[in-house]
Amino acid sequence: MTDRARRAVCPGSYDPVTSGHLDVIARAAALHDEVVVAVLHNPAKAGAFAVEDRIGFIERGLAGLGVTSGVRVEAFAGRLLVDVCRDLGADVVVKGLRGPTDFAYELPMALMNRHLTGVETLFLPGAPEFEHVSSSLVKEVARYGGDVTGLVPDEVRDALVRLRGDG
Ligand code: PNS
Repeated sequence: MTDRARRAVCPGSYDPVTSGHLDVIARAAALHDEVVVAVLHNPAKAGAFAVEDRIGFIERGLAGLGVTSGVRVEAFAGRLLVDVCRDLGADVVVKGLRGPTDFAYELPMALMNRHLTGVETLFLPGAPEFEHVSSSLVKEVARYGGDVTGLVPDEVRDALVRLRGDG
């Protein structure tokens, strides 16, 4: 055992955060001294939500789950995840897996990241009730008037409804 704090990074686009993301972040926080939720975005690509909005949704979503310490949310533009981890002094990336399709997508990234700097990736099984939930699916369902209550925080649901009004 060392005295070094165990700092993990939960990376993602979070455009927007879902209930599945929040569950994984909260569980990662219970396993580490500190978790940095890294909102990684490409400055050349406009997302559905501004980065500041994505950060606020995550912060308030976590507070709604009672996760009020040991987690901070930061945005990083146009950077490799391994460089973000190095700058943060984090040697672990935590990701949720909803099933085998996620694993097939995530494994090469985990191996590449370890190849680049030795950073390890820990996979947490996603909560079964959120297995069908992704940022892109909730955006599509909400865009056509479907109800995404419970799949995202209520404030995100309301923001998705407003986007629809703007569209
Ligand atoms: O929420 P997403 O879209 O599944 O998140 C993917 C993300 C942002 C974590 C991934 O694309 C990423 O790590 N991007 C940063 C750039 C990078 O490091 N690319 C090489 C990955 S091996």
